[in-house]
Amino acid sequence: MEKIFVKPNGPLKGSVRISGAKNAALPIIAASILGTEEIVLEDIPELKDVEVITEVLRRLGLKIEKNKNTLKIDPRGLNTAKTDYELISKMRASFLVMGPLLAKMKEAYNSLPGGCNIGSRPIDLHLKGFKALGAEIEMTHGEIRATCEKLVGAKIYLDFPSVGATENIMTAAVLAEGETIIENCAMEPEIVDLANFLNKMGARVTGAGTSTIRIKGVEKLTGCTHQIIPDRIEAGTFMVAAAITGGDILIENIITSHLKPVIAKLEESGAQIIEEGDNVRVIGSETIKPLEIKTLPHPGFPTDLQAQFMALLTQADGQSSIIETVFENRFMHADELKKMGAKIKVIDREAVLLGKNKLYGSKVSATDLRAGAALILAALVSEGETEISEIYHIDRGYENIEEKFRNLGANITRIDV
Ligand code: EPU
Repeated sequence: MEKIFVKPNGPLKGSVRISGAKNAALPIIAASILGTEEIVLEDIPELKDVEVITEVLRRLGLKIEKNKNTLKIDPRGLNTAKTDYELISKMRASFLVMGPLLAKMKEAYNSLPGGCNIGSRPIDLHLKGFKALGAEIEMTHGEIRATCEKLVGAKIYLDFPSVGATENIMTAAVLAEGETIIENCAMEPEIVDLANFLNKMGARVTGAGTSTIRIKGVEKLTGCTHQIIPDRIEAGTFMVAAAITGGDILIENIITSHLKPVIAKLEESGAQIIEEGDNVRVIGSETIKPLEIKTLPHPGFPTDLQAQFMALLTQADGQSSIIETVFENRFMHADELKKMGAKIKVIDREAVLLGKNKLYGSKVSATDLRAGAALILAALVSEGETEISEIYHIDRGYENIEEKFRNLGANITRIDV
């Protein structure tokens, strides 16, 4: 079993290039099912989750060639609407093939995605959208089957701006007859990237990035070349690395407008942020000021950076509070940070941090992807060695994480023990 070992090594310094965004790459790869000609995707991060979704597509009959960070996808071989159970159960995001399959094949079979470490994560809003477009849904023994004679545009109001539901409904509606309007939809930058990709293939999607998306159905989508946007969560993780170690890091390939709440909170904590075109320099301060954070759908503070900020706030000069509103159970990292010496009290959806805790290297576990990143950040300022297990979670979402941290001066190694 592989583990990551980290020892403190002073402030991190240097530059790091941010990879393409996992959460943009996954729905875009899934949406490639909709094409009728070759699709070239650039800046695809090399991650476990990306491997899983490409394998799901291969087993549906698509031809995929990978060359480092470029994928060439030929969707013409699509020959089944039934996804592979074993693969789907590995990754919740595999459910994103449902919308494209329904649009293209008029049917889609999948296993029901289960809960996960961060909460129960239902799919009612995805299904509400498919039904509104004219699909029939059958659920039996953990399997789900959506079928339709044709999809017809509809007005759909989402009770919560779910990222995945917005993506699945968009990718089902692009080939539907007439207009679809999704209200109270997700506004994340990854939704905008998906819309841009679909439009390059011939779709007519407007409003992505606002709370109302309009989709005029077209007869077919073609192919295109598309570069994935930079990963704002990876960028935010390295920004916190500069802040927590009192370092000075130049973060390259970043879109700062995607990170407004993160930049605002880091500045409030005392870090200096200097924007230079596609790059941002983050200079940590000696004293970290406490913060009040509440996670929200975009453009609010991202839940995917909540754990990393919790690590930062263990070092703040005073009491901080973090309220998690997006997921029901996303504080598992608090217990791991407590093992390292952090003083954190979790009551329901709020974590209160006493701050300025001396942390000690410990044996901890990456309970989910972002929790794993938070433990690396905490370990950078802990006395002694930290041993992090369950690191396959980290590999699901961070490309070359040890190498990137090592290049900034961190003492971090991966050992197969
Ligand atoms: N929800 C429902 N019903 C639904 C769908 C969602 O109640 O039908 C609830 C969920 O239970 C959850 C909330 O809505 O409480 C948010 O879920 P959402 O659907 O927005 O999340 P997701 O699409 O499953 C994506 C990212 C997550 C990220 C969230 C929120 C991908 C592949 N995953 O998940 O990324 O946390 O949006 O921004 O895009 C990560 O990268 O670490 C990660 C977990």
